[in-house]
Amino acid sequence: MNRRQFIKSTAAAGTGFLILPSGTRAGKNAPGNKLNIALIGTWGRGEAHFGPLSHENVVALCDVNEEHLAFGAKKFPGAKTYVDWRKCLDQKDIDAVLCCTTDHTHAFIENWAMNRGLHVYCEKPLAITVEEARVVRANYLKNKNKIATQTGTQRHSIPNFNRVSEQIRDGVIGELIATYAWGNRQIRRPGYLPGQGEPPKHLNYDLWIGPSPMHPYNPGYFAGGPGANCLSWNMYWDFGVGQIGDMGAHTMDIAWDAIDAGLPLTAESKGEKFNPDVTPVELEMHFKMPKNDWRPEITVSWYQGGAMPNSPKNYIDLNKIGHGAMFKGTNGFLISDFDSHIILPYGKEADLTYYKPRPKEKLLPPVGVFQDEWINACKGDLKTSCDFDYAGKMLEMMNLGLVAYRVGKKLEYDGNTGRVTNCEEANALLSRKYRDGWTLNG
Ligand SMILES: NC(=O)c1ccc[n+]([C@@H]2O[C@H](COP(=O)([O-])OP(=O)(O)OC[C@H]3O[C@@H](n4cnc5c(N)ncnc54)[C@H](O)[C@@H]3O)[C@@H](O)[C@H]2O)c1
Repeated sequence: MNRRQFIKSTAAAGTGFLILPSGTRAGKNAPGNKLNIALIGTWGRGEAHFGPLSHENVVALCDVNEEHLAFGAKKFPGAKTYVDWRKCLDQKDIDAVLCCTTDHTHAFIENWAMNRGLHVYCEKPLAITVEEARVVRANYLKNKNKIATQTGTQRHSIPNFNRVSEQIRDGVIGELIATYAWGNRQIRRPGYLPGQGEPPKHLNYDLWIGPSPMHPYNPGYFAGGPGANCLSWNMYWDFGVGQIGDMGAHTMDIAWDAIDAGLPLTAESKGEKFNPDVTPVELEMHFKMPKNDWRPEITVSWYQGGAMPNSPKNYIDLNKIGHGAMFKGTNGFLISDFDSHIILPYGKEADLTYYKPRPKEKLLPPVGVFQDEWINACKGDLKTSCDFDYAGKMLEMMNLGLVAYRVGKKLEYDGNTGRVTNCEEANALLSRKYRDGWTLNG
């Protein structure tokens, strides 16, 4: 039994009196029952995880910015430090990785960690291309009996997510027809920033660029405050996926949680004029999603940057909900933001007699602290609410929508093979080229 299997079995047994090989006692907070975690990205969003991580052993820290690395080391002084995550992942005593780096490195770190048998929590978005989302998901499915994964959409733990999911599933608006999600953020960038000065000594800029094509250094990519610096780079194609990786990953999650979706059958998008440097601000995407065992085929739509779905009633101004989701059923609508929702029964059959609210004991159990759900899963049943299968399908769909936008055609998609069947030009955009020396699944 290796260390990881041991932690898992003691946590599953829930006992405080097992004798550890070292002779120490196990128990929820006993030293032997803690995970050895590597934190990659030790400032900004990384700091938001300091609290939950401080109950475990943070044994490795990695950041391309050596000042940020020192910031992390102040909190976790016992950890070894690295500037290159590939070297960090070779540290032998690591059980799990928590990753808060730029979006264009997420799929790499997820794959490399899983290939080393490590549990992974990675900030959203899971990936920035269709291919990356598929490779990460396939890798997770291969390893799901050994590791726990979580995508950092922590709003998922707000109880409203469970309530929406239960009510849609139980038919509060009748049979589901369509789902819409939208976000109103508008971050306009003209194009990649021109070169300006040399990177400061404490910043390993080449490692920051990582697998993406080289762009000259400009301090503008690093101008944001802690936890908001992602807005300085996530609108550029080589570093992020614009709004779908920004608030979109959180907002589509409200809908995704409720619809048990597979992969899309078609994708069709329209938006502002294509800019090869930056992702669009105004955009809408529409997907046909296959039926499942409790609902028929439905459509899923995403709107951003000013594009909006029509409101079912003119007394409801959807624009007042900055980041929201709406479900249309045969008997009405359900409209939700992150923490509340309203039900709008509609039409002749909408008397609600067909709907029985669940008794309290049948409600979905609370997710609890989102990071703790993952930490407990690593030590226990490996189950989390936003694993790389769940988030992988969502990001595959969203990234396919961006490809449909780029080619300006309605795409027919084969989710089994991950190929567009009616447009070769689109297939070329499902993946991206990496700089020499960088391997997605290493
Ligand atoms: N879940 C949320 O609510 C939420 C909120 C904010 C940001 N995020 C996500 O967190 C991530 C980081 O966002 P941020 O605003 O903290 O960005 P940031 O630019 O401040 O980066 C965070 C840290 O990672 C380091 N870093 C960047 N690339 C690295 C690499 N290749 N290897 C090691 N370290 C690296 C940076 O130097 C910095 O210290 C993004 O993916 C973003 O989408 C999520």
